[in-house]
Amino acid sequence: MSEKTKKENLRSQSWFNPPDAKSGFIHRSWMRNQGLPNDYFEGRPVIGICNTWSELTPCNAHLRDFAEFVKKGVLEAGGVPFEFPVTSLGEILMRPTAMLFRNLASMDTEETIRANPMDGVVLLTGCDKTTPSTLMGACSVDLPTIVVPGGPMLNGKYKGERIGSGTFVWQLKDKIKNEGFTHEDQIVAEICSARSAGHCMTMGTASTMACMVESLGLTLPGAAAIPAVDSRKKVMAQLSGRRIVEMVKEDLKLSTILTRKAFENAIKVNAAIGGSTNFIIHLTAIAGRIGVKLDLKDFDTLGSKIPLLVNLMPSGKFLMEDFFDAGGLPVVIKQMKDHLHNDALTVNGKPIGANNEMAECYNDEVIATLGKPFLEEAGIAVLYGNLCEDGAVIKPSAATPELMTHKGKAVVFENIEDCIVNINDPDLDIDGSSVIVLKGVGPKGYPGMPEVGNIEIPDKLITKGIKDMVRISDGRMSGTAYGTVVLHVSPESTVGGLLALVQTGDMIVLDVPNRKLHLDVDDAELKKRKDAWVPPQRHMERGYVSLYEKTVQQAHLGADLDFLVGKSSSEVTRDAH
Ligand code: FES
Repeated sequence: MSEKTKKENLRSQSWFNPPDAKSGFIHRSWMRNQGLPNDYFEGRPVIGICNTWSELTPCNAHLRDFAEFVKKGVLEAGGVPFEFPVTSLGEILMRPTAMLFRNLASMDTEETIRANPMDGVVLLTGCDKTTPSTLMGACSVDLPTIVVPGGPMLNGKYKGERIGSGTFVWQLKDKIKNEGFTHEDQIVAEICSARSAGHCMTMGTASTMACMVESLGLTLPGAAAIPAVDSRKKVMAQLSGRRIVEMVKEDLKLSTILTRKAFENAIKVNAAIGGSTNFIIHLTAIAGRIGVKLDLKDFDTLGSKIPLLVNLMPSGKFLMEDFFDAGGLPVVIKQMKDHLHNDALTVNGKPIGANNEMAECYNDEVIATLGKPFLEEAGIAVLYGNLCEDGAVIKPSAATPELMTHKGKAVVFENIEDCIVNINDPDLDIDGSSVIVLKGVGPKGYPGMPEVGNIEIPDKLITKGIKDMVRISDGRMSGTAYGTVVLHVSPESTVGGLLALVQTGDMIVLDVPNRKLHLDVDDAELKKRKDAWVPPQRHMERGYVSLYEKTVQQAHLGADLDFLVGKSSSEVTRDAH
Protein backbone atom coordinates (compact mmCIF):
# COMPACT_ATOMS: atom_id res chain seq x y z
CA MET A 1 0.00 0.00 0.00
CA SER A 2 1.44 3.39 -0.99
CA GLU A 3 1.72 6.30 1.43
CA LYS A 4 -1.36 7.90 -0.09
CA THR A 5 -3.61 4.85 0.26
CA LYS A 6 -2.91 4.21 3.94
CA LYS A 7 -6.16 4.50 5.75
CA GLU A 8 -4.78 6.94 8.32
CA ASN A 9 -4.15 9.35 5.45
CA LEU A 10 -7.79 9.41 4.49
CA ARG A 11 -9.51 12.58 5.56
CA SER A 12 -12.66 10.63 6.45
CA GLN A 13 -10.76 8.56 9.01
CA SER A 14 -10.41 11.58 11.27
CA TRP A 15 -14.19 11.35 11.66
CA PHE A 16 -14.66 7.58 11.73
CA ASN A 17 -11.52 6.41 13.51
CA PRO A 18 -10.25 9.34 15.59
CA PRO A 19 -8.07 8.85 18.68
CA ASP A 20 -10.96 9.96 20.86
CA ALA A 21 -13.36 7.01 21.36
CA LYS A 22 -16.38 9.17 22.14
CA SER A 23 -16.02 11.17 18.97
CA GLY A 24 -15.63 8.00 16.86
CA PHE A 25 -18.73 6.53 18.50
CA ILE A 26 -20.77 9.62 17.64
CA HIS A 27 -19.64 9.84 14.02
CA ARG A 28 -20.19 6.16 13.29
CA SER A 29 -23.23 5.39 15.37
CA TRP A 30 -25.67 7.80 13.77
CA MET A 31 -24.48 6.88 10.28
CA ARG A 32 -25.20 3.24 11.08
CA ASN A 33 -28.93 3.98 11.22
CA GLN A 34 -28.79 3.78 7.41
CA GLY A 35 -27.78 0.13 7.65
CA LEU A 36 -24.08 0.48 6.91
CA PRO A 37 -21.69 -2.41 7.53
CA ASN A 38 -18.70 -1.90 9.78
CA ASP A 39 -16.14 -1.94 6.99
CA TYR A 40 -17.62 1.31 5.66
CA PHE A 41 -15.81 3.03 8.51
CA GLU A 42 -12.60 1.06 8.37
CA GLY A 43 -10.48 2.96 5.84
CA ARG A 44 -12.38 2.76 2.56
CA PRO A 45 -12.29 6.08 0.63
CA VAL A 46 -15.47 8.03 1.28
CA ILE A 47 -16.88 9.64 -1.84
CA GLY A 48 -19.40 12.47 -1.68
CA ILE A 49 -21.80 12.53 -4.61
CA CYS A 50 -22.83 16.15 -4.91
CA ASN A 51 -26.22 16.10 -6.58
CA THR A 52 -27.89 19.10 -8.16
CA TRP A 53 -31.05 17.05 -8.75
CA SER A 54 -34.29 18.94 -8.43
CA GLU A 55 -37.71 18.70 -10.02
CA LEU A 56 -37.57 22.50 -10.24
CA THR A 57 -34.44 22.16 -12.37
CA PRO A 58 -35.89 20.04 -15.17
CA CYS A 59 -32.52 19.78 -16.92
CA ASN A 60 -31.22 17.92 -13.85
CA ALA A 61 -34.35 15.98 -12.91
CA HIS A 62 -32.79 12.67 -14.00
CA LEU A 63 -29.72 13.04 -11.79
CA ARG A 64 -31.32 11.28 -8.83
CA ASP A 65 -31.23 8.06 -10.89
CA PHE A 66 -27.76 8.84 -12.17
CA ALA A 67 -26.37 8.96 -8.66
CA GLU A 68 -27.16 5.23 -8.33
CA PHE A 69 -24.79 4.45 -11.21
CA VAL A 70 -22.06 6.54 -9.64
CA LYS A 71 -22.60 4.72 -6.34
CA LYS A 72 -22.32 1.36 -8.08
CA GLY A 73 -18.96 2.41 -9.49
CA VAL A 74 -17.72 3.72 -6.15
CA LEU A 75 -18.65 0.47 -4.40
CA GLU A 76 -17.08 -1.66 -7.13
CA ALA A 77 -13.80 0.20 -6.64
CA GLY A 78 -13.88 -0.28 -2.88
CA GLY A 79 -15.10 3.16 -1.88
CA VAL A 80 -18.09 4.23 0.16
CA PRO A 81 -20.56 6.60 -1.54
CA PHE A 82 -22.67 9.19 0.25
CA GLU A 83 -24.98 11.25 -1.91
CA PHE A 84 -25.85 14.76 -0.77
CA PRO A 85 -27.99 17.55 -2.22
CA VAL A 86 -26.84 21.08 -2.86
CA THR A 87 -28.70 24.15 -4.01
CA SER A 88 -29.91 23.42 -7.52
CA LEU A 89 -30.22 26.34 -9.91
CA GLY A 90 -32.87 25.97 -12.59
CA GLU A 91 -32.29 28.46 -15.35
CA ILE A 92 -35.88 28.66 -16.45
CA LEU A 93 -37.91 29.18 -13.30
CA MET A 94 -35.73 31.09 -10.86
CA ARG A 95 -36.53 34.75 -10.18
CA PRO A 96 -35.16 37.32 -10.56
CA THR A 97 -32.44 35.34 -12.40
CA ALA A 98 -30.53 32.12 -11.68
CA MET A 99 -27.14 33.84 -11.94
CA LEU A 100 -27.88 35.79 -8.77
CA PHE A 101 -27.57 32.50 -6.89
CA ARG A 102 -24.51 30.93 -8.58
CA ASN A 103 -22.20 32.16 -5.82
CA LEU A 104 -24.65 31.13 -3.09
CA ALA A 105 -24.81 27.60 -4.51
CA SER A 106 -21.02 27.54 -4.71
CA MET A 107 -20.83 28.44 -1.02
CA ASP A 108 -23.28 25.68 -0.19
CA THR A 109 -21.18 23.16 -2.13
CA GLU A 110 -17.91 24.35 -0.62
CA GLU A 111 -19.06 24.29 2.97
CA THR A 112 -20.91 20.98 2.65
CA ILE A 113 -17.84 19.27 1.22
CA ARG A 114 -15.46 20.73 3.78
CA ALA A 115 -17.71 20.09 6.76
CA ASN A 116 -18.22 16.40 6.03
CA PRO A 117 -16.04 13.28 5.98
CA MET A 118 -15.32 13.11 2.26
CA ASP A 119 -12.10 12.00 0.62
CA GLY A 120 -13.24 12.67 -2.92
CA VAL A 121 -16.20 14.25 -4.68
CA VAL A 122 -18.31 13.55 -7.76
CA LEU A 123 -20.21 16.56 -9.11
CA LEU A 124 -23.48 15.71 -10.87
CA THR A 125 -24.38 18.73 -12.94
CA GLY A 126 -26.42 19.79 -15.94
CA CYS A 127 -28.34 23.05 -16.21
CA ASP A 128 -26.26 26.18 -16.90
CA LYS A 129 -25.29 27.36 -13.42
CA THR A 130 -25.11 23.96 -11.73
CA THR A 131 -21.73 23.18 -13.32
CA PRO A 132 -19.84 26.39 -12.47
CA SER A 133 -21.42 26.77 -9.04
CA THR A 134 -20.49 23.29 -7.83
CA LEU A 135 -17.08 23.42 -9.44
CA MET A 136 -16.30 26.80 -7.89
CA GLY A 137 -17.23 25.43 -4.48
CA ALA A 138 -15.21 22.25 -4.98
CA CYS A 139 -12.17 24.28 -6.09
CA SER A 140 -12.20 26.22 -2.84
CA VAL A 141 -11.85 22.91 -0.95
CA ASP A 142 -9.58 21.18 -3.47
CA LEU A 143 -10.21 17.48 -2.90
CA PRO A 144 -9.93 14.89 -5.69
CA THR A 145 -13.01 15.70 -7.79
CA ILE A 146 -14.57 14.38 -10.99
CA VAL A 147 -17.49 15.87 -12.89
CA VAL A 148 -20.31 13.85 -14.46
CA PRO A 149 -22.26 16.15 -16.77
CA GLY A 150 -25.91 15.07 -16.93
CA GLY A 151 -26.08 15.28 -20.72
CA PRO A 152 -28.22 17.11 -23.26
CA MET A 153 -31.80 16.31 -24.25
CA LEU A 154 -32.34 14.38 -27.46
CA ASN A 155 -32.59 16.57 -30.55
CA GLY A 156 -35.79 18.59 -30.71
CA LYS A 157 -37.78 17.76 -33.84
CA TYR A 158 -40.68 19.88 -35.07
CA LYS A 159 -42.44 18.97 -38.33
CA GLY A 160 -39.35 17.11 -39.46
CA GLU A 161 -36.98 19.98 -38.67
CA ARG A 162 -34.49 20.29 -35.81
CA ILE A 163 -35.76 22.62 -33.10
CA GLY A 164 -33.07 23.82 -30.73
CA SER A 165 -33.90 24.48 -27.09
CA GLY A 166 -33.65 28.17 -26.41
CA THR A 167 -32.62 29.11 -29.93
CA PHE A 168 -36.18 28.51 -31.16
CA VAL A 169 -37.51 30.85 -28.47
CA TRP A 170 -35.51 33.72 -29.99
CA GLN A 171 -37.10 33.01 -33.39
CA LEU A 172 -40.63 32.80 -32.01
CA LYS A 173 -41.51 36.47 -32.24
CA ASP A 174 -40.47 36.63 -35.87
CA LYS A 175 -42.46 33.45 -36.61
CA ILE A 176 -45.61 34.84 -34.97
CA LYS A 177 -45.23 38.22 -36.71
CA ASN A 178 -44.18 37.09 -40.15
CA GLU A 179 -45.02 33.39 -40.57
CA GLY A 180 -48.53 33.06 -39.12
CA PHE A 181 -47.35 30.85 -36.23
CA THR A 182 -50.44 30.13 -34.09
CA HIS A 183 -50.85 29.36 -30.38
CA GLU A 184 -51.51 25.72 -31.30
CA ASP A 185 -48.29 25.62 -33.31
CA GLN A 186 -46.53 27.01 -30.26
CA ILE A 187 -47.83 24.28 -27.93
CA VAL A 188 -46.70 21.55 -30.34
CA ALA A 189 -43.29 23.21 -30.74
CA GLU A 190 -42.91 23.41 -26.94
CA ILE A 191 -43.41 19.68 -26.61
CA CYS A 192 -41.14 18.91 -29.54
CA SER A 193 -38.30 21.00 -28.19
CA ALA A 194 -38.10 19.17 -24.85
CA ARG A 195 -38.72 15.52 -25.66
CA SER A 196 -36.41 13.80 -23.19
CA ALA A 197 -34.51 14.21 -19.94
CA GLY A 198 -31.41 16.40 -20.11
CA HIS A 199 -30.30 19.98 -20.54
CA CYS A 200 -30.63 22.33 -23.54
CA MET A 201 -29.33 20.52 -26.62
CA THR A 202 -28.04 23.54 -28.51
CA MET A 203 -24.48 24.72 -27.90
CA GLY A 204 -25.98 26.90 -25.19
CA THR A 205 -24.49 27.48 -21.79
CA ALA A 206 -25.18 24.02 -20.37
CA SER A 207 -23.52 22.24 -23.32
CA THR A 208 -20.73 24.81 -23.19
CA MET A 209 -20.20 24.07 -19.50
CA ALA A 210 -20.15 20.31 -20.14
CA CYS A 211 -17.53 20.83 -22.87
CA MET A 212 -15.66 23.21 -20.55
CA VAL A 213 -15.24 20.59 -17.83
CA GLU A 214 -14.23 17.95 -20.36
CA SER A 215 -11.63 20.25 -21.95
CA LEU A 216 -10.34 21.22 -18.50
CA GLY A 217 -9.70 17.52 -17.93
CA LEU A 218 -12.32 17.09 -15.20
CA THR A 219 -14.46 14.38 -16.84
CA LEU A 220 -13.67 11.03 -18.34
CA PRO A 221 -13.02 11.45 -22.08
CA GLY A 222 -16.13 11.91 -24.21
CA ALA A 223 -18.50 12.64 -21.33
CA ALA A 224 -19.86 16.03 -22.42
CA ALA A 225 -21.94 15.21 -25.48
CA ILE A 226 -23.52 11.88 -24.49
CA PRO A 227 -27.29 12.49 -24.41
CA ALA A 228 -28.84 12.24 -20.96
CA VAL A 229 -30.99 9.24 -21.90
CA ASP A 230 -28.28 7.31 -23.74
CA SER A 231 -27.25 4.13 -21.91
CA ARG A 232 -23.62 5.15 -22.37
CA LYS A 233 -24.24 8.09 -20.04
CA LYS A 234 -25.02 5.65 -17.25
CA VAL A 235 -21.85 3.74 -18.03
CA MET A 236 -19.95 7.04 -17.87
CA ALA A 237 -21.47 7.72 -14.45
CA GLN A 238 -20.50 4.28 -13.19
CA LEU A 239 -16.95 4.51 -14.53
CA SER A 240 -16.61 7.95 -12.97
CA GLY A 241 -17.62 6.40 -9.66
CA ARG A 242 -14.90 3.81 -10.01
CA ARG A 243 -12.33 6.38 -11.06
CA ILE A 244 -12.87 8.81 -8.20
CA VAL A 245 -11.86 6.09 -5.73
CA GLU A 246 -8.59 5.68 -7.60
CA MET A 247 -8.13 9.44 -7.68
CA VAL A 248 -8.37 9.53 -3.90
CA LYS A 249 -5.71 6.83 -3.67
CA GLU A 250 -3.51 8.85 -6.05
CA ASP A 251 -4.32 12.09 -4.21
CA LEU A 252 -5.16 13.62 -7.61
CA LYS A 253 -6.64 16.94 -6.53
CA LEU A 254 -8.41 19.59 -8.56
CA SER A 255 -5.41 21.90 -8.26
CA THR A 256 -3.17 19.28 -9.90
CA ILE A 257 -5.42 19.19 -12.97
CA LEU A 258 -6.57 22.81 -13.08
CA THR A 259 -3.32 24.42 -14.14
CA ARG A 260 -2.94 27.43 -16.42
CA LYS A 261 -2.46 24.95 -19.29
CA ALA A 262 -5.87 23.40 -18.63
CA PHE A 263 -7.54 26.82 -18.67
CA GLU A 264 -5.81 27.74 -21.92
CA ASN A 265 -7.02 24.49 -23.47
CA ALA A 266 -10.56 25.19 -22.34
CA ILE A 267 -10.52 28.68 -23.88
CA LYS A 268 -9.33 27.33 -27.23
CA VAL A 269 -11.77 24.44 -27.28
CA ASN A 270 -14.62 26.80 -26.40
CA ALA A 271 -13.75 28.90 -29.42
CA ALA A 272 -13.68 25.83 -31.68
CA ILE A 273 -17.11 24.68 -30.53
CA GLY A 274 -18.68 28.16 -30.71
CA GLY A 275 -19.43 28.06 -26.98
CA SER A 276 -21.50 30.53 -25.01
CA THR A 277 -20.23 33.93 -23.86
CA ASN A 278 -21.21 32.82 -20.36
CA PHE A 279 -18.15 30.58 -20.52
CA ILE A 280 -16.00 33.67 -19.89
CA ILE A 281 -17.61 34.69 -16.67
CA HIS A 282 -17.77 31.17 -15.26
CA LEU A 283 -14.25 30.11 -16.25
CA THR A 284 -12.85 33.33 -14.79
CA ALA A 285 -14.63 32.66 -11.50
CA ILE A 286 -13.38 29.04 -11.42
CA ALA A 287 -9.81 30.21 -12.11
CA GLY A 288 -10.16 32.70 -9.26
CA ARG A 289 -11.14 29.94 -6.86
CA ILE A 290 -8.32 27.55 -7.76
CA GLY A 291 -5.73 30.35 -7.91
CA VAL A 292 -4.87 30.46 -11.62
CA LYS A 293 -4.38 33.94 -13.06
CA LEU A 294 -6.74 34.51 -15.97
CA ASP A 295 -7.36 37.86 -17.57
CA LEU A 296 -10.32 38.85 -19.74
CA LYS A 297 -7.85 39.59 -22.54
CA ASP A 298 -6.72 35.94 -22.47
CA PHE A 299 -10.04 34.90 -23.99
CA ASP A 300 -9.34 37.06 -27.02
CA THR A 301 -5.59 36.46 -27.27
CA LEU A 302 -5.94 32.69 -26.99
CA GLY A 303 -9.32 32.11 -28.57
CA SER A 304 -10.28 34.69 -31.16
CA LYS A 305 -8.13 33.28 -33.97
CA ILE A 306 -9.33 29.72 -33.40
CA PRO A 307 -11.54 28.44 -36.24
CA LEU A 308 -15.08 27.20 -35.68
CA LEU A 309 -15.13 23.42 -36.01
CA VAL A 310 -18.59 22.62 -34.74
CA ASN A 311 -21.77 23.34 -36.65
CA LEU A 312 -24.25 23.57 -33.78
CA MET A 313 -27.03 26.04 -33.04
CA PRO A 314 -27.06 28.90 -32.26
CA SER A 315 -24.05 29.54 -34.55
CA GLY A 316 -24.82 26.61 -36.88
CA LYS A 317 -27.57 24.14 -37.68
CA PHE A 318 -27.09 20.87 -35.75
CA LEU A 319 -27.70 19.84 -32.13
CA MET A 320 -25.85 17.99 -29.37
CA GLU A 321 -27.16 14.55 -30.33
CA ASP A 322 -25.68 15.11 -33.80
CA PHE A 323 -22.44 16.23 -32.16
CA PHE A 324 -22.30 13.05 -30.09
CA ASP A 325 -23.07 10.87 -33.14
CA ALA A 326 -20.30 12.65 -35.07
CA GLY A 327 -17.75 11.73 -32.40
CA GLY A 328 -18.25 14.50 -29.84
CA LEU A 329 -15.65 16.61 -28.10
CA PRO A 330 -12.81 14.06 -28.43
CA VAL A 331 -12.82 14.74 -32.20
CA VAL A 332 -12.54 18.49 -31.62
CA ILE A 333 -9.72 18.00 -29.11
CA LYS A 334 -7.89 15.78 -31.58
CA GLN A 335 -8.40 18.26 -34.43
CA MET A 336 -7.10 21.01 -32.17
CA LYS A 337 -3.98 19.17 -31.10
CA ASP A 338 -1.59 21.70 -32.65
CA HIS A 339 -3.24 24.47 -30.61
CA LEU A 340 -3.56 22.67 -27.27
CA HIS A 341 -1.32 21.70 -24.39
CA ASN A 342 -1.63 17.99 -25.09
CA ASP A 343 0.29 17.13 -21.93
CA ALA A 344 -2.34 18.68 -19.62
CA LEU A 345 -3.32 16.04 -17.07
CA THR A 346 -6.91 14.83 -16.78
CA VAL A 347 -8.90 12.95 -14.16
CA ASN A 348 -8.12 9.54 -15.62
CA GLY A 349 -4.45 10.20 -14.89
CA LYS A 350 -3.57 10.56 -18.58
CA PRO A 351 -2.83 13.67 -20.64
CA ILE A 352 -5.65 15.14 -22.71
CA GLY A 353 -3.81 14.57 -25.98
CA ALA A 354 -3.34 10.85 -25.37
CA ASN A 355 -6.95 10.48 -24.22
CA ASN A 356 -8.32 11.71 -27.52
CA GLU A 357 -5.74 10.65 -30.11
CA MET A 358 -7.90 7.77 -31.37
CA ALA A 359 -11.04 9.89 -31.83
CA GLU A 360 -12.72 9.59 -35.23
CA CYS A 361 -15.12 11.97 -36.93
CA TYR A 362 -18.22 10.30 -38.36
CA ASN A 363 -19.86 13.36 -39.87
CA ASP A 364 -17.87 16.27 -41.26
CA GLU A 365 -21.04 18.33 -41.72
CA VAL A 366 -21.15 18.51 -37.91
CA ILE A 367 -17.45 18.59 -36.99
CA ALA A 368 -15.10 20.19 -39.51
CA THR A 369 -11.37 19.86 -39.92
CA LEU A 370 -8.92 22.61 -39.08
CA GLY A 371 -8.13 22.87 -42.78
CA LYS A 372 -11.76 23.47 -43.73
CA PRO A 373 -13.52 25.06 -40.75
CA PHE A 374 -17.04 26.49 -40.70
CA LEU A 375 -15.56 29.91 -39.88
CA GLU A 376 -11.94 31.07 -39.77
CA GLU A 377 -12.02 33.06 -36.52
CA ALA A 378 -14.63 31.96 -34.05
CA GLY A 379 -13.53 32.89 -30.56
CA ILE A 380 -14.83 35.65 -28.39
CA ALA A 381 -13.60 39.19 -29.06
CA VAL A 382 -12.84 41.42 -26.07
CA LEU A 383 -13.50 45.11 -26.67
CA TYR A 384 -12.05 48.10 -24.87
CA GLY A 385 -12.73 51.82 -25.10
CA ASN A 386 -14.20 54.65 -23.05
CA LEU A 387 -17.52 52.77 -22.88
CA CYS A 388 -15.90 49.67 -21.35
CA GLU A 389 -12.61 50.53 -19.67
CA ASP A 390 -12.38 47.07 -18.09
CA GLY A 391 -13.67 45.30 -21.18
CA ALA A 392 -16.78 44.03 -22.92
CA VAL A 393 -17.31 40.94 -25.04
CA ILE A 394 -18.93 39.97 -28.32
CA LYS A 395 -19.29 36.59 -30.00
CA PRO A 396 -18.49 37.21 -33.68
CA SER A 397 -19.69 33.77 -34.77
CA ALA A 398 -23.21 34.66 -33.56
CA ALA A 399 -23.14 38.21 -35.00
CA THR A 400 -23.87 39.75 -38.41
CA PRO A 401 -20.58 40.33 -40.26
CA GLU A 402 -21.75 43.66 -41.75
CA LEU A 403 -22.43 45.07 -38.27
CA MET A 404 -19.00 44.27 -36.86
CA THR A 405 -17.90 47.76 -37.84
CA HIS A 406 -20.74 50.15 -37.17
CA LYS A 407 -21.48 53.70 -36.09
CA GLY A 408 -24.98 54.51 -34.97
CA LYS A 409 -27.17 56.65 -32.74
CA ALA A 410 -27.90 55.28 -29.29
CA VAL A 411 -31.43 54.44 -28.21
CA VAL A 412 -31.12 54.12 -24.45
CA PHE A 413 -33.14 52.14 -21.92
CA GLU A 414 -32.33 52.80 -18.28
CA ASN A 415 -33.32 49.30 -17.11
CA ILE A 416 -34.97 46.14 -18.39
CA GLU A 417 -38.47 47.26 -17.39
CA ASP A 418 -38.00 50.51 -19.33
CA CYS A 419 -36.92 48.41 -22.31
CA ILE A 420 -39.86 45.99 -22.10
CA VAL A 421 -42.40 48.80 -21.81
CA ASN A 422 -40.98 51.11 -24.48
CA ILE A 423 -39.16 49.04 -27.10
CA ASN A 424 -42.36 48.67 -29.12
CA ASP A 425 -43.61 52.22 -28.70
CA PRO A 426 -44.72 53.10 -32.25
CA ASP A 427 -43.26 56.60 -31.73
CA LEU A 428 -39.82 55.33 -30.69
CA ASP A 429 -37.23 57.05 -32.85
CA ILE A 430 -35.30 53.99 -33.99
CA ASP A 431 -34.19 52.38 -37.22
CA GLY A 432 -31.95 49.52 -38.30
CA SER A 433 -28.80 51.60 -37.90
CA SER A 434 -29.55 52.57 -34.29
CA VAL A 435 -27.55 51.10 -31.41
CA ILE A 436 -29.77 49.83 -28.60
CA VAL A 437 -28.23 50.46 -25.17
CA LEU A 438 -29.53 48.75 -22.04
CA LYS A 439 -28.30 49.81 -18.59
CA GLY A 440 -28.82 48.40 -15.12
CA VAL A 441 -28.45 44.69 -15.91
CA GLY A 442 -24.92 44.12 -14.60
CA PRO A 443 -23.91 42.04 -11.56
CA LYS A 444 -24.89 44.74 -9.04
CA GLY A 445 -27.37 46.61 -11.16
CA TYR A 446 -30.11 44.04 -11.71
CA PRO A 447 -28.82 42.40 -9.39
CA GLY A 448 -27.49 39.13 -10.78
CA MET A 449 -26.62 39.99 -14.38
CA PRO A 450 -29.51 38.39 -16.27
CA GLU A 451 -29.42 37.07 -19.83
CA VAL A 452 -31.18 40.01 -21.43
CA GLY A 453 -28.37 41.42 -23.57
CA ASN A 454 -29.92 40.16 -26.81
CA ILE A 455 -32.66 42.76 -26.55
CA GLU A 456 -35.56 42.00 -28.88
CA ILE A 457 -35.64 43.94 -32.13
CA PRO A 458 -38.66 46.32 -32.11
CA ASP A 459 -41.75 44.89 -33.83
CA LYS A 460 -41.89 47.71 -36.34
CA LEU A 461 -38.36 46.90 -37.52
CA ILE A 462 -39.00 43.15 -37.61
CA THR A 463 -41.96 43.84 -39.91
CA LYS A 464 -39.52 45.68 -42.19
CA GLY A 465 -37.35 42.55 -42.28
CA ILE A 466 -34.61 43.75 -39.92
CA LYS A 467 -33.28 40.71 -38.07
CA ASP A 468 -30.21 42.08 -36.28
CA MET A 469 -28.98 45.35 -34.77
CA VAL A 470 -26.06 46.37 -32.58
CA ARG A 471 -27.07 46.02 -28.96
CA ILE A 472 -24.94 46.95 -25.94
CA SER A 473 -25.48 46.21 -22.25
CA ASP A 474 -23.80 45.33 -18.99
CA GLY A 475 -25.81 42.09 -18.89
CA ARG A 476 -25.25 38.61 -20.26
CA MET A 477 -26.81 36.71 -23.14
CA SER A 478 -28.23 33.21 -23.17
CA GLY A 479 -25.86 30.77 -24.79
CA THR A 480 -28.71 29.79 -27.08
CA ALA A 481 -29.08 33.35 -28.39
CA TYR A 482 -27.38 35.16 -31.24
CA GLY A 483 -26.97 38.61 -32.76
CA THR A 484 -24.52 41.52 -32.84
CA VAL A 485 -24.64 41.87 -29.11
CA VAL A 486 -21.99 43.52 -26.94
CA LEU A 487 -22.17 42.12 -23.42
CA HIS A 488 -20.56 42.24 -19.98
CA VAL A 489 -19.71 45.96 -20.27
CA SER A 490 -17.40 46.66 -17.35
CA PRO A 491 -17.59 48.70 -15.22
CA GLU A 492 -21.36 48.37 -15.26
CA SER A 493 -23.66 51.37 -15.24
CA THR A 494 -24.74 50.93 -11.62
CA VAL A 495 -21.22 51.50 -10.29
CA GLY A 496 -20.73 54.58 -12.46
CA GLY A 497 -19.18 53.14 -15.61
CA LEU A 498 -19.46 55.41 -18.63
CA LEU A 499 -22.39 53.28 -19.77
CA ALA A 500 -24.40 55.11 -17.08
CA LEU A 501 -23.87 58.39 -18.92
CA VAL A 502 -25.00 57.36 -22.40
CA GLN A 503 -28.03 59.27 -23.64
CA THR A 504 -30.37 58.66 -26.54
CA GLY A 505 -28.95 60.31 -29.66
CA ASP A 506 -25.25 59.87 -28.69
CA MET A 507 -23.09 58.34 -31.40
CA ILE A 508 -21.51 54.98 -30.58
CA VAL A 509 -18.70 53.39 -32.58
CA LEU A 510 -18.31 49.60 -32.64
CA ASP A 511 -15.15 48.37 -34.31
CA VAL A 512 -14.74 44.65 -33.62
CA PRO A 513 -11.73 44.13 -35.93
CA ASN A 514 -9.86 46.76 -33.88
CA ARG A 515 -11.50 45.70 -30.61
CA LYS A 516 -12.95 49.15 -29.90
CA LEU A 517 -16.18 50.35 -28.35
CA HIS A 518 -16.37 54.12 -28.13
CA LEU A 519 -18.91 56.67 -26.98
CA ASP A 520 -18.42 59.64 -29.27
CA VAL A 521 -19.26 62.42 -26.80
CA ASP A 522 -16.76 65.13 -25.83
CA ASP A 523 -15.08 65.11 -22.44
CA ALA A 524 -16.65 68.36 -21.20
CA GLU A 525 -20.14 67.00 -21.81
CA LEU A 526 -19.27 63.67 -20.17
CA LYS A 527 -17.92 65.50 -17.09
CA LYS A 528 -21.16 67.47 -16.85
CA ARG A 529 -23.17 64.25 -16.97
CA LYS A 530 -20.88 62.53 -14.46
CA ASP A 531 -21.26 65.40 -11.97
CA ALA A 532 -25.03 65.16 -12.27
CA TRP A 533 -25.13 61.33 -12.01
CA VAL A 534 -26.80 59.85 -8.92
CA PRO A 535 -25.99 56.20 -8.12
CA PRO A 536 -29.07 53.95 -8.05
CA GLN A 537 -30.47 52.78 -4.71
CA ARG A 538 -29.51 49.30 -3.52
CA HIS A 539 -32.18 46.66 -4.04
CA MET A 540 -32.18 45.05 -0.59
CA GLU A 541 -30.90 45.76 2.87
CA ARG A 542 -31.19 42.20 4.20
CA GLY A 543 -30.53 38.61 3.32
CA TYR A 544 -28.40 37.07 0.63
CA VAL A 545 -29.24 39.75 -1.95
CA SER A 546 -27.85 42.41 0.36
CA LEU A 547 -24.61 40.43 0.84
CA TYR A 548 -24.43 39.85 -2.91
CA GLU A 549 -24.87 43.51 -3.78
CA LYS A 550 -22.19 44.57 -1.31
CA THR A 551 -19.58 42.05 -2.41
CA VAL A 552 -20.11 40.95 -6.01
CA GLN A 553 -17.23 41.71 -8.34
CA GLN A 554 -17.52 43.14 -11.83
CA ALA A 555 -18.06 40.94 -14.87
CA HIS A 556 -14.46 41.03 -16.08
CA LEU A 557 -13.41 39.42 -12.79
CA GLY A 558 -15.99 36.63 -13.01
CA ALA A 559 -18.74 38.19 -10.86
CA ASP A 560 -17.77 36.11 -7.83
CA LEU A 561 -18.29 37.49 -4.34
CA ASP A 562 -15.02 39.15 -3.37
CA PHE A 563 -14.61 37.14 -0.17
CA LEU A 564 -15.10 33.81 -1.96
CA VAL A 565 -12.18 34.20 -4.37
CA GLY A 566 -9.43 31.69 -3.60
CA LYS A 567 -9.53 28.53 -1.53
CA SER A 568 -9.33 27.55 2.13
CA SER A 569 -8.26 23.88 1.76
CA SER A 570 -10.16 20.87 3.07
CA GLU A 571 -8.82 21.09 6.60
CA VAL A 572 -11.09 21.76 9.56
CA THR A 573 -9.16 21.76 12.79
CA ARG A 574 -11.99 22.05 15.31
CA ASP A 575 -14.83 19.66 16.05
CA ALA A 576 -17.33 20.04 18.85
CA HIS A 577 -21.01 19.23 19.17
FE1 FES B 1 -31.33 24.20 -18.21
FE2 FES B 1 -31.05 25.33 -20.70
S1 FES B 1 -32.56 25.68 -19.17
S2 FES B 1 -29.80 23.96 -19.64
